[in-house]
Amino acid sequence: MYVLGIESSCDDTGVAIYHSKKGLLAHYIHRQTEHDAYGGVVPELASRDHIHRVLPLVKQVLATAQLQPSAIDGIAYTAGPGLIGALLVGASIARSLAYAWSVPALAVHHLEGHLLAPMLESSPPSFPFIALLVSGGHTLLIEVTGLGCYHILGESVDDAAGEAFDKTAKLLGLPYPGGPHLAKLAEQGTPGRFRFPRPMTDRPGLDFSFSGLKTHARQTFAQHDDPNLKADIAYAFEEAVIETLLIKSQRALKQTKIKTLVIAGGVGANQRLRQRFAAYGNKAKITMAYPRPEFCTDNGAMIAYAGCQRLLRKEESSLAISVRPRWPLTEL
Ligand code: KG4
Ligand code: ZN
Repeated sequence: MYVLGIESSCDDTGVAIYHSKKGLLAHYIHRQTEHDAYGGVVPELASRDHIHRVLPLVKQVLATAQLQPSAIDGIAYTAGPGLIGALLVGASIARSLAYAWSVPALAVHHLEGHLLAPMLESSPPSFPFIALLVSGGHTLLIEVTGLGCYHILGESVDDAAGEAFDKTAKLLGLPYPGGPHLAKLAEQGTPGRFRFPRPMTDRPGLDFSFSGLKTHARQTFAQHDDPNLKADIAYAFEEAVIETLLIKSQRALKQTKIKTLVIAGGVGANQRLRQRFAAYGNKAKITMAYPRPEFCTDNGAMIAYAGCQRLLRKEESSLAISVRPRWPLTEL
Protein backbone atom coordinates (compact mmCIF):
# COMPACT_ATOMS: atom_id res chain seq x y z
CA MET A 1 0.00 0.00 0.00
CA TYR A 2 1.41 3.41 -1.05
CA VAL A 3 0.49 6.19 1.38
CA LEU A 4 1.04 9.90 0.90
CA GLY A 5 1.55 11.72 4.22
CA ILE A 6 1.05 15.45 4.80
CA GLU A 7 2.15 17.30 7.96
CA SER A 8 1.22 20.98 8.47
CA SER A 9 0.39 21.37 12.17
CA CYS A 10 2.82 24.19 12.94
CA ASP A 11 5.64 25.83 10.99
CA ASP A 12 7.05 22.88 9.04
CA THR A 13 5.51 21.53 5.85
CA GLY A 14 6.34 17.83 5.54
CA VAL A 15 5.29 15.50 2.72
CA ALA A 16 6.30 11.85 2.28
CA ILE A 17 5.42 8.58 0.58
CA TYR A 18 5.57 5.40 2.66
CA HIS A 19 4.96 1.89 1.32
CA SER A 20 3.69 -0.81 3.69
CA LYS A 21 6.38 -3.29 2.55
CA LYS A 22 9.10 -1.20 0.86
CA GLY A 23 9.25 1.43 3.62
CA LEU A 24 9.90 5.13 3.15
CA LEU A 25 10.25 6.03 -0.53
CA ALA A 26 10.53 9.82 -0.49
CA HIS A 27 10.18 12.72 1.93
CA TYR A 28 10.68 16.46 1.96
CA ILE A 29 10.41 19.05 4.70
CA HIS A 30 10.14 22.77 4.22
CA ARG A 31 11.10 24.60 7.43
CA GLN A 32 9.55 28.07 7.52
CA THR A 33 11.97 30.83 8.46
CA GLU A 34 9.70 33.89 8.25
CA HIS A 35 8.84 33.51 11.96
CA ASP A 36 12.43 33.94 13.13
CA ALA A 37 12.16 37.73 13.20
CA TYR A 38 9.16 37.51 15.57
CA GLY A 39 10.75 35.12 18.07
CA GLY A 40 7.90 32.60 17.71
CA VAL A 41 5.47 31.12 15.20
CA VAL A 42 2.95 33.60 13.70
CA PRO A 43 -0.06 31.35 12.93
CA GLU A 44 -1.38 33.32 9.94
CA LEU A 45 2.05 33.41 8.27
CA ALA A 46 2.38 29.66 8.85
CA SER A 47 -0.97 28.91 7.18
CA ARG A 48 -0.18 31.09 4.17
CA ASP A 49 3.18 29.46 3.65
CA HIS A 50 1.72 25.93 3.89
CA ILE A 51 -0.68 26.86 1.05
CA HIS A 52 2.29 27.59 -1.22
CA ARG A 53 4.33 24.56 -0.18
CA VAL A 54 2.11 21.49 0.04
CA LEU A 55 1.30 20.82 -3.64
CA PRO A 56 4.84 21.42 -4.97
CA LEU A 57 6.14 19.05 -2.29
CA VAL A 58 3.52 16.43 -3.28
CA LYS A 59 4.77 16.66 -6.88
CA GLN A 60 8.35 16.39 -5.65
CA VAL A 61 7.79 13.23 -3.59
CA LEU A 62 5.88 11.56 -6.45
CA ALA A 63 8.76 12.37 -8.82
CA THR A 64 11.41 11.11 -6.38
CA ALA A 65 9.49 7.89 -5.74
CA GLN A 66 8.90 7.60 -9.51
CA LEU A 67 5.17 7.19 -9.02
CA GLN A 68 2.09 8.51 -10.79
CA PRO A 69 -0.76 9.81 -8.60
CA SER A 70 -2.76 6.72 -9.64
CA ALA A 71 -0.32 4.55 -7.62
CA ILE A 72 -1.29 6.18 -4.32
CA ASP A 73 -3.64 3.98 -2.24
CA GLY A 74 -4.40 6.40 0.59
CA ILE A 75 -3.62 9.82 2.03
CA ALA A 76 -2.76 10.55 5.68
CA TYR A 77 -2.79 14.07 7.06
CA THR A 78 -2.22 15.64 10.48
CA ALA A 79 -5.63 16.63 11.84
CA GLY A 80 -4.42 17.82 15.26
CA PRO A 81 -3.30 18.93 17.73
CA GLY A 82 -1.82 22.11 16.27
CA LEU A 83 -2.60 25.55 14.85
CA ILE A 84 -6.10 25.53 13.36
CA GLY A 85 -5.28 27.43 10.16
CA ALA A 86 -2.15 25.40 9.49
CA LEU A 87 -4.01 22.13 10.09
CA LEU A 88 -6.86 23.22 7.80
CA VAL A 89 -4.46 23.76 4.89
CA GLY A 90 -3.08 20.21 5.09
CA ALA A 91 -6.51 18.69 5.73
CA SER A 92 -8.18 20.53 2.82
CA ILE A 93 -5.49 19.58 0.35
CA ALA A 94 -5.34 15.96 1.57
CA ARG A 95 -9.13 15.55 1.41
CA SER A 96 -9.34 17.19 -2.03
CA LEU A 97 -6.59 14.98 -3.46
CA ALA A 98 -8.23 11.89 -1.95
CA TYR A 99 -11.54 12.87 -3.57
CA ALA A 100 -9.89 13.55 -6.93
CA TRP A 101 -7.90 10.30 -6.84
CA SER A 102 -10.77 8.22 -5.35
CA VAL A 103 -8.71 6.92 -2.44
CA PRO A 104 -9.39 6.97 1.32
CA ALA A 105 -8.01 9.75 3.51
CA LEU A 106 -7.13 9.39 7.15
CA ALA A 107 -6.84 12.00 9.93
CA VAL A 108 -3.65 11.32 11.91
CA HIS A 109 -2.90 12.46 15.47
CA HIS A 110 0.35 14.45 15.40
CA LEU A 111 1.66 12.88 18.63
CA GLU A 112 0.95 9.36 17.38
CA GLY A 113 3.11 10.30 14.40
CA HIS A 114 5.93 11.42 16.72
CA LEU A 115 5.88 8.37 18.96
CA LEU A 116 5.84 5.95 16.03
CA ALA A 117 8.64 7.81 14.17
CA PRO A 118 11.36 5.34 15.37
CA MET A 119 9.49 2.66 13.37
CA LEU A 120 10.99 4.25 10.26
CA GLU A 121 14.50 3.27 11.35
CA SER A 122 16.41 0.09 10.48
CA SER A 123 15.98 -1.54 13.92
CA PRO A 124 12.53 -0.41 15.05
CA PRO A 125 11.39 -0.94 18.66
CA SER A 126 8.74 -3.55 19.41
CA PHE A 127 5.69 -3.14 21.64
CA PRO A 128 5.40 -2.59 24.55
CA PHE A 129 7.56 0.47 25.10
CA ILE A 130 7.63 3.67 27.13
CA ALA A 131 7.63 6.78 24.95
CA LEU A 132 9.17 9.99 26.23
CA LEU A 133 7.65 12.57 23.92
CA VAL A 134 9.46 15.88 24.21
CA SER A 135 8.41 18.50 21.68
CA GLY A 136 7.75 22.22 21.52
CA GLY A 137 4.15 21.74 22.64
CA HIS A 138 4.20 18.56 24.74
CA THR A 139 6.15 16.62 27.36
CA LEU A 140 4.62 13.22 27.95
CA LEU A 141 5.57 9.81 29.31
CA ILE A 142 3.35 7.24 27.61
CA GLU A 143 3.01 3.49 28.05
CA VAL A 144 2.55 2.17 24.51
CA THR A 145 1.25 -1.40 24.28
CA GLY A 146 0.23 -1.36 20.61
CA LEU A 147 -0.99 0.87 17.79
CA GLY A 148 -3.56 3.20 19.37
CA CYS A 149 -3.00 1.79 22.89
CA TYR A 150 -1.60 4.77 24.75
CA HIS A 151 -1.68 5.18 28.51
CA ILE A 152 -0.38 8.53 29.74
CA LEU A 153 1.83 8.08 32.79
CA GLY A 154 2.94 11.68 33.23
CA GLU A 155 2.91 15.08 31.53
CA SER A 156 4.03 18.65 31.99
CA VAL A 157 1.86 20.77 34.26
CA ASP A 158 3.15 23.97 32.63
CA ASP A 159 5.75 24.59 29.86
CA ALA A 160 6.75 21.76 27.53
CA ALA A 161 10.46 20.85 27.47
CA GLY A 162 10.95 22.38 24.00
CA GLU A 163 9.06 25.49 25.03
CA ALA A 164 11.37 25.88 28.05
CA PHE A 165 14.40 25.54 25.71
CA ASP A 166 12.92 28.16 23.38
CA LYS A 167 12.07 30.65 26.15
CA THR A 168 15.46 30.30 27.86
CA ALA A 169 17.22 30.65 24.50
CA LYS A 170 15.26 33.85 23.87
CA LEU A 171 16.40 35.19 27.24
CA LEU A 172 20.00 34.49 26.18
CA GLY A 173 19.43 36.41 22.94
CA LEU A 174 19.43 33.35 20.68
CA PRO A 175 17.26 33.03 17.55
CA TYR A 176 14.01 31.02 17.30
CA PRO A 177 13.62 28.04 17.53
CA GLY A 178 16.06 28.22 20.39
CA GLY A 179 16.59 24.54 21.31
CA PRO A 180 19.39 23.74 18.85
CA HIS A 181 21.06 27.16 19.38
CA LEU A 182 21.02 26.76 23.16
CA ALA A 183 22.46 23.24 22.82
CA LYS A 184 25.31 24.62 20.68
CA LEU A 185 26.08 27.41 23.16
CA ALA A 186 26.00 24.91 26.06
CA GLU A 187 28.99 23.11 24.50
CA GLN A 188 31.13 26.06 25.65
CA GLY A 189 29.62 26.08 29.15
CA THR A 190 31.59 25.39 32.33
CA PRO A 191 30.37 22.17 33.99
CA GLY A 192 29.44 22.72 37.62
CA ARG A 193 29.48 26.53 37.64
CA PHE A 194 25.72 26.71 38.20
CA ARG A 195 23.40 23.98 39.37
CA PHE A 196 19.75 24.47 38.36
CA PRO A 197 16.95 22.60 40.19
CA ARG A 198 15.56 19.28 38.91
CA PRO A 199 11.85 20.20 39.21
CA MET A 200 9.42 17.72 40.80
CA THR A 201 12.03 14.96 41.16
CA ASP A 202 11.98 15.14 44.98
CA ARG A 203 8.41 13.80 45.15
CA PRO A 204 6.76 10.71 43.71
CA GLY A 205 4.98 10.83 40.37
CA LEU A 206 5.76 11.21 36.71
CA ASP A 207 4.59 14.74 35.93
CA PHE A 208 6.97 17.50 34.86
CA SER A 209 7.22 21.24 35.43
CA PHE A 210 9.72 23.30 33.45
CA SER A 211 8.55 26.90 33.84
CA GLY A 212 10.58 27.42 37.04
CA LEU A 213 13.83 26.63 35.20
CA LYS A 214 13.28 29.53 32.84
CA THR A 215 12.78 31.84 35.86
CA HIS A 216 15.92 30.40 37.48
CA ALA A 217 17.84 31.17 34.28
CA ARG A 218 16.50 34.75 34.27
CA GLN A 219 17.53 35.33 37.89
CA THR A 220 21.01 33.87 37.34
CA PHE A 221 21.39 36.09 34.28
CA ALA A 222 20.46 39.19 36.28
CA GLN A 223 22.81 38.39 39.17
CA HIS A 224 26.05 37.90 37.20
CA ASP A 225 27.97 39.69 34.48
CA ASP A 226 30.87 38.00 32.70
CA PRO A 227 31.79 36.91 29.16
CA ASN A 228 31.00 33.19 29.62
CA LEU A 229 27.77 33.72 31.55
CA LYS A 230 25.40 32.82 28.71
CA ALA A 231 27.18 29.57 27.88
CA ASP A 232 27.31 28.57 31.55
CA ILE A 233 23.59 29.22 31.96
CA ALA A 234 22.87 27.25 28.76
CA TYR A 235 24.93 24.34 30.11
CA ALA A 236 23.24 24.34 33.54
CA PHE A 237 19.77 24.65 32.01
CA GLU A 238 20.34 21.83 29.52
CA GLU A 239 21.74 19.56 32.25
CA ALA A 240 18.73 20.23 34.48
CA VAL A 241 16.21 19.42 31.73
CA ILE A 242 18.04 16.26 30.65
CA GLU A 243 18.53 14.92 34.17
CA THR A 244 14.88 15.62 35.05
CA LEU A 245 13.70 13.78 31.93
CA LEU A 246 16.05 10.90 32.73
CA ILE A 247 14.94 10.55 36.37
CA LYS A 248 11.25 10.46 35.37
CA SER A 249 11.88 8.05 32.48
CA GLN A 250 13.75 5.69 34.82
CA ARG A 251 10.79 5.80 37.21
CA ALA A 252 8.34 5.00 34.40
CA LEU A 253 10.46 2.05 33.23
CA LYS A 254 10.78 0.66 36.76
CA GLN A 255 7.10 1.15 37.52
CA THR A 256 5.93 -0.67 34.38
CA LYS A 257 8.84 -3.17 34.16
CA ILE A 258 9.07 -2.30 30.46
CA LYS A 259 12.57 -2.60 28.95
CA THR A 260 12.34 -0.33 25.89
CA LEU A 261 12.35 3.46 25.85
CA VAL A 262 11.46 5.51 22.77
CA ILE A 263 12.52 9.16 22.75
CA ALA A 264 10.59 11.22 20.23
CA GLY A 265 9.81 14.87 19.45
CA GLY A 266 12.08 17.83 18.70
CA VAL A 267 14.04 17.83 21.98
CA GLY A 268 14.91 14.18 21.26
CA ALA A 269 17.33 15.52 18.62
CA ASN A 270 19.50 16.91 21.45
CA GLN A 271 22.88 15.15 21.33
CA ARG A 272 23.75 15.50 25.00
CA LEU A 273 20.33 14.06 25.90
CA ARG A 274 21.01 11.06 23.65
CA GLN A 275 24.44 10.50 25.23
CA ARG A 276 23.04 10.59 28.75
CA PHE A 277 20.14 8.26 27.94
CA ALA A 278 22.45 5.88 26.04
CA ALA A 279 24.77 5.62 29.05
CA TYR A 280 21.82 4.80 31.30
CA GLY A 281 20.45 2.30 28.75
CA ASN A 282 23.75 0.41 28.61
CA LYS A 283 24.02 0.22 32.37
CA ALA A 284 20.39 -0.74 33.07
CA LYS A 285 19.99 -2.96 29.98
CA ILE A 286 17.22 -0.81 28.56
CA THR A 287 16.84 -0.69 24.77
CA MET A 288 16.79 2.92 23.56
CA ALA A 289 15.08 3.83 20.30
CA TYR A 290 15.20 7.22 18.61
CA PRO A 291 14.14 8.49 15.23
CA ARG A 292 16.96 10.00 13.14
CA PRO A 293 17.33 13.69 14.20
CA GLU A 294 15.38 15.08 11.21
CA PHE A 295 12.43 12.84 12.13
CA CYS A 296 12.47 14.04 15.75
CA THR A 297 11.13 17.39 14.64
CA ASP A 298 7.95 17.65 12.55
CA ASN A 299 7.97 15.72 9.28
CA GLY A 300 5.64 14.03 6.79
CA ALA A 301 7.27 10.59 7.03
CA MET A 302 5.91 9.92 10.53
CA ILE A 303 2.41 10.91 9.38
CA ALA A 304 2.62 8.66 6.30
CA TYR A 305 3.81 5.78 8.52
CA ALA A 306 1.12 6.20 11.20
CA GLY A 307 -1.56 6.70 8.52
CA CYS A 308 -0.44 3.58 6.66
CA GLN A 309 -0.78 1.41 9.79
CA ARG A 310 -4.34 2.62 10.31
CA LEU A 311 -5.31 2.43 6.62
CA LEU A 312 -4.10 -1.18 6.64
CA ARG A 313 -6.68 -1.76 9.38
CA LYS A 314 -9.28 -0.36 6.94
CA GLU A 315 -9.75 2.79 9.04
CA GLU A 316 -10.94 5.85 7.13
CA SER A 317 -12.03 9.37 8.15
CA SER A 318 -15.29 10.99 7.06
CA LEU A 319 -15.38 13.22 3.97
CA ALA A 320 -15.78 16.36 6.08
CA ILE A 321 -12.72 18.59 6.35
CA SER A 322 -12.45 18.76 10.12
CA VAL A 323 -9.40 19.33 12.29
CA ARG A 324 -8.85 19.26 16.06
CA PRO A 325 -6.49 21.96 17.39
CA ARG A 326 -6.87 20.25 20.79
CA TRP A 327 -7.06 16.48 20.64
CA PRO A 328 -6.15 14.34 23.69
CA LEU A 329 -4.03 11.34 22.68
CA THR A 330 -6.13 9.18 24.99
CA GLU A 331 -9.13 9.64 22.67
CA LEU A 332 -7.52 7.47 19.99
O1 KG4 B 1 8.45 18.14 17.62
P1 KG4 B 1 8.72 19.53 17.19
O2 KG4 B 1 9.31 19.76 15.84
O3 KG4 B 1 7.43 20.42 17.23
C1 KG4 B 1 6.32 20.22 18.00
O4 KG4 B 1 5.50 19.32 17.67
O5 KG4 B 1 6.22 20.95 19.01
O6 KG4 B 1 9.67 20.16 18.33
C2 KG4 B 1 10.19 21.45 18.24
C3 KG4 B 1 10.92 21.75 19.54
C4 KG4 B 1 11.35 23.21 19.66
O7 KG4 B 1 10.98 23.68 20.93
C5 KG4 B 1 12.87 23.15 19.49
O8 KG4 B 1 13.54 24.19 20.15
C6 KG4 B 1 13.18 21.81 20.10
O9 KG4 B 1 12.12 20.97 19.65
N1 KG4 B 1 14.48 21.27 19.63
C7 KG4 B 1 15.54 21.06 20.44
C8 KG4 B 1 16.59 20.58 19.62
N2 KG4 B 1 16.13 20.51 18.32
C9 KG4 B 1 14.84 20.94 18.37
N3 KG4 B 1 15.69 21.23 21.76
C10 KG4 B 1 16.89 20.93 22.31
N4 KG4 B 1 17.95 20.50 21.59
C11 KG4 B 1 17.85 20.29 20.25
N5 KG4 B 1 18.90 19.85 19.56
ZN1 ZN C 1 5.65 17.95 16.55
